[in-house]
Order: sequence, then C-alpha cells, then structure tokens
Amino acid sequence: MPRVVLGVTGGIAAYKAVEVCRRLIDAGCFVSPVLTVDATRFIGTATFDALGSEPARIALFDCPEPSPHTHLGQQADLIVIAPATANTIAKYTHGVADDLLTATLLATRAPVLICPAMHTEMWEQASVQTNLATLRSRGVHVLDPDSGDLACGDVGMGRLPEPGRIVAAALDVLAQNRPLLGRRVLVTAGGTREPIDSVRVITNRSSGKQGYAIAQVAAEMGAHVTLVTTVDRAIPEGIAAVIRVETAQQMQDAVMPIAAAQDIIVMAAAVADFRAVAPKDRKTKKEDGPPSIVLEPTHDFLVDLGAQKPAGQILVGFAAETESLHENALGKLKRKKLDFIVGNDVSQSDAGFEVDTNRVVIISAAGTATELPLQTKTAVAKELLHAIVARFA
Ligand code: CTP
Repeated sequence: MPRVVLGVTGGIAAYKAVEVCRRLIDAGCFVSPVLTVDATRFIGTATFDALGSEPARIALFDCPEPSPHTHLGQQADLIVIAPATANTIAKYTHGVADDLLTATLLATRAPVLICPAMHTEMWEQASVQTNLATLRSRGVHVLDPDSGDLACGDVGMGRLPEPGRIVAAALDVLAQNRPLLGRRVLVTAGGTREPIDSVRVITNRSSGKQGYAIAQVAAEMGAHVTLVTTVDRAIPEGIAAVIRVETAQQMQDAVMPIAAAQDIIVMAAAVADFRAVAPKDRKTKKEDGPPSIVLEPTHDFLVDLGAQKPAGQILVGFAAETESLHENALGKLKRKKLDFIVGNDVSQSDAGFEVDTNRVVIISAAGTATELPLQTKTAVAKELLHAIVARFA
C-alpha cells in the first residue's frame, strides 16, 4: 500500500484537500495528513482525523512520537501538498524547515507533488515563479493552478485544480516510481533441504540473498510480493505474504496453486534435483555404520510453470553453473519455456552463493544477453526487474 503524506497549507482551497484525502484512500493509499498551523484556520483537524489513515499531525514538537518528520519523510512513497501557499513553496525552495510539513519535505527522498493555489497577483510574482522553476529543476512535480473563481469574489489564475485531477496526478507520480504497482510477484529463495533421516538433510549453499533482494526491490517498485523461502533471514519490509518451506515438494506445493494468479514468477531458489527415496523417521546411529542413501529425482516444477504459463505472465529461472554458463543457461531457458534466465557463475568466490555480490548474465527469450559486471545482489535485482518492467511496457 503506497504511503502518501498529504500536506495542507493555509489557503482558502484547504477545504478541497478533504476530498483529495478521501480519494487517495479510495485509490488504496495510506494517507498521513500533515497540516500547517495556518491551514487549521481554514479547516479542522477532526475532518482529517476521521478521513485519513491516521490522525492529522501539525506539530514538530510536543507530540507522542520523537521526530515525526523523519519517520513520515522516510516512510513516504509520495508527498502531495494541496493547496501549497506561496509561503510554503518559498520555504521548501530555500530549505527552511520551521514546521512539521517543511521539515518532512527535507527529510524525504520520496517524490513530491506541489499544487499551488493563491491569488493571481501572488501567482504571477517573479519570486513565486522563480521558486517553482527551481523546484521543477530539482525534479519536484508541480501541478499548475486553474483559472477561475478565487476567494473574495476575484477571478483569475491561481485556483486549486479539482480533487480528481490532483489525485490523478498523484497516482501518476506514484506509478512512475512504482512501476510494478498492482502487479503480483512470486519469488522463491534459498536452497531446499531434503531429509535423509529425522535430523539430517541434504542441501546446497544457496543463502537466499539474491531471492530476498529481488523480493525487496519488487516490493519497493509497488508489487504485491509473495516470498516462498527455505531460509530464516529477516523479511524485507513491504512483502505481502511469506510461505516457509523446506523441501522441493513443499516448495512445489506452495507455488503451484498460486502460480496462475501471478504476473511475474522468479524462481531464484536452488531446488534440489535429488532426494532420499526413504528418509528414516528416526536418527541414524553411528553404530549402524555408514548409511547408503538411495536418491531419486525431484520433480522440476519450473518445467510445469513454463508449460502452464498464462498469457502475459513473465517467468524467470536461475541457472547456477560452474562451466559453459551461456550455453547451459540458454538451454534451460528454452527447455523450461522461460521469458528470462539469470545465469550465475558460481565457480568464483565473489559471486553466487552466500556472498553479497553477484556477476550474472540475463538472457531473454527475445534473444538478448546482458552481461552484468560484479555488483550487489540488490543492483542485480534492480536490473532484472527493470528488464521485466520494460517487457510489460
Ligand atoms: N528448478 C525447479 N525444480 C527443480 C530443479 C530446478 O523448479 N527440481 C528451477 C530452479 O529454481 C531454477 C531453474 O529450475 O530456477 C534451474 O535450476 P538448475 O538446478 O540450475 O537447473 P536444472 O534444470 O536442475 O539443471 P542442472 O542441475 O543439471 O544444472
């Protein structure tokens, strides 16, 4: 759920911010209203308390939470200021932070949408226009005011656009920064663990780091992420559902029933190819001597996913290889009917299993092969997800 800080400043159009708040909530946003003191001369906080996702805030100090501006700014996916007075625009432009709203603007990396509203004379002032040009040059989004009826019987440029237009502009900015908004993404992570008796397993060196990085970046891009995992790592923020599994069979049972509902499936997990035919239900004792373990193949359910892929779904596999990376990865892409395969050379100590960095090639069914130099697993996740987003586009 995208988090939106709705800043309301002291202008007559503050009453329209009530409707903006309501419509953002209807569009599925979590809205934190922040009013300036002057805004409260035009509209009561009780209205925003009732309509927002949490009570309205005004003060930087004397509130229950310490430093509300950093908490709001860091968590926000978007800050919308509607209406934005000439005064707040000037303070934002020059880095003044003398109230909660302007401090929050300094404490965020989220995109900002400003909706100026003021009398025509104020709107036309060189200082206001210069400030807005500066903000635009810094990447701030500005929704220009309409022309029409203003306060005190005046008519002219400076009227706050209707709430529907403000919300549409806000959702547009969110979509630019969250290109997977509304998409369902399933990611598998970690190495499966196949029991040989009640205390011992056969597993592999997969740490789950790459899968977790993909899940995290997909969530940051707005996706509804389901993570199917064998490892006990901290779950990244924003993951919608986590399913914990151990064996290849459990992973298959978790993935297959929900596969058709996904827009994207990334099989980053290192799934065992073999399991013990008859794992003992008790601990094998040393006195019994070295056991002989008879193995049987597991089922490769990525092949099933490829065969049953619904139209429009993007299916991604991983190929961990120690030799002939391109050739082996390409063979798996074709055999499993994938859209992308991430070929991973795991013969080197700085890439692949357990470490925080990776060196991969992303091969697409369309025939492209993108070699990525050594980089963090988060950077690899971004490259992969951007390639997938480009396919949707
Ligand atoms: N995979 C799977 N089920 C299996 C084995 C693998 O779904 N039983 C998936 C993995 O999650 C990965 C892809 O298939 O995305 C490739 O796995 P990999 O082990 O590299 O390929 P294999 O086809 O098993 O070939 P090999 O082990 O011989 O290299």
